Amino acid sequence: MQHDNTSATYRPQWRTGVGFLFAAIGSAVGLGNIWRFPYIAYKNGGGAFLIPYLVALVTAGIPILVLEFALGHQKKGSAPKAFSMINRKYEWLGWWSVIFIMFGIMAYYTVVIGWCFNYLCFSFAQSWGNDPNSFFFDSFLHTSSGVWDIQGMNPMILTAVALIWFINWAITFQGLEKGIERAVKFMMPVLFIITAIIVIWSLFLDGAGSGIKLYLTPDFSKITNVDVWVAAYGQIFFSLSLGFGIMIAYASYLPQNANIFKNSIIVACTNSFYEIFAGFGVFAVLGYMAFKQSVPIQETVTSGIGLAFVAYPKAISMLPFGTVFGILFFFLLCIAGISSSISIIEAFSAALNDKFGLQRNKMITLLCGFGFLESMLFTTHAGLFWLDIVDHFINHYGLITVGLLEAVIVGWIYKTDTLKAHILSRMGASGTQYKFFRQTILRVWEFCIRYITPAALGIALINSLITEFSESYEGYPVSGIIILGVGWLLVTHGAAVVVSGLAWKKPPGNE
Ligand code: ALA
Repeated sequence: MQHDNTSATYRPQWRTGVGFLFAAIGSAVGLGNIWRFPYIAYKNGGGAFLIPYLVALVTAGIPILVLEFALGHQKKGSAPKAFSMINRKYEWLGWWSVIFIMFGIMAYYTVVIGWCFNYLCFSFAQSWGNDPNSFFFDSFLHTSSGVWDIQGMNPMILTAVALIWFINWAITFQGLEKGIERAVKFMMPVLFIITAIIVIWSLFLDGAGSGIKLYLTPDFSKITNVDVWVAAYGQIFFSLSLGFGIMIAYASYLPQNANIFKNSIIVACTNSFYEIFAGFGVFAVLGYMAFKQSVPIQETVTSGIGLAFVAYPKAISMLPFGTVFGILFFFLLCIAGISSSISIIEAFSAALNDKFGLQRNKMITLLCGFGFLESMLFTTHAGLFWLDIVDHFINHYGLITVGLLEAVIVGWIYKTDTLKAHILSRMGASGTQYKFFRQTILRVWEFCIRYITPAALGIALINSLITEFSESYEGYPVSGIIILGVGWLLVTHGAAVVVSGLAWKKPPGNE
């Protein structure tokens, strides 16, 4: 059938169920799984972190994912459309999430993918030399003295970022089926195969055992600390792409009878399995490095950015066939990053298409062009500081606030009954078989959405605010924090309110 590509009512559909699953898992599995999770787990109690992590997965991750899938599917719309169909006055929430993700996370996320691409090239000659730390911060990033010491842009990074934006454009420009679905059907199997190779390779290295021991040794004293629980909820949100508006848009492209609940469980479990599994590889490599350098393993463990661009290059230089390992590792990060970044563009363009009926091709080109211009800010010599501040505020406040409001709006205002009925009617074979079981699961889901998720996210938010006021984040100047962190959230919020006030080309519900 020939679709009218310009119409506001046209809605593309995934060609296959697997295509949808790959796309949703591709969005979830990203840089956050590979470099963020292992370190967060280690810092927050090692094996014991799995307790708050799994609790966060069950009480907020899965319930919000089910909510987002069900809402997008039932309303057949992007985040703004779905919320405006609940009540026009909540449309801003949908806009806010897609705007601050597109012009917040996406702007720096593509820059980090750009670094990965630069490092993929460096891997061939191991250009980081004997001191990957000073190579990364001084020779590569040319990090300046502070937030406002911007100096200029790094041409090498800028070129890589331009390439990453071009790839994003080239994929999303082709549309849902020919672009995103086709790309993830290639990227996801490659991602899984390379991950398996890297993890298994790492497990056989000398000293791997001590790394794994450190990764998994439970420190139960940590889990009484609220910060650890906040970290678990933050990780689940970022990692599952919740509050991004992505899962709402992706589910809106599913066929009428798709099993929402089953899909949510598959996506959530695959994502968590992937990050826990990747953690084995990361810690095995750190154990190997400690063994080779004869230093305590604790000294090799480092945070997100340092892990991928300092610790790993160091390990790669020591490994037999390190060049191959390096190429595989940075290629993996590029793929994981791109399969997530295309989903961010799709969530935003779906919103624009729903509301204004804009023509996809022009819209994607404009969006990617503008996104690239914005990413340039993060390629300056102060880019690392900017990235850190924006990332902190979006993760600790933006995503959690969106999740909290989603739960409150759906759980208390929209009520969960119609969504429950929508999910239940698509949960599998009809008839009374297992009906009681299914209804019980949905009652638990409802209980989470109404009580547990808002309570958990509310506590996380309050705790973050208390910490924020007691000390300036990472010692950054207050001006930087207010302008880049708080300012980013407030400006995007203002933009969301303005856009939600504009007229719909075709009001939702009338098509
Ligand atoms: N979910 C994506 C990640 O973890 C954004 O990187």
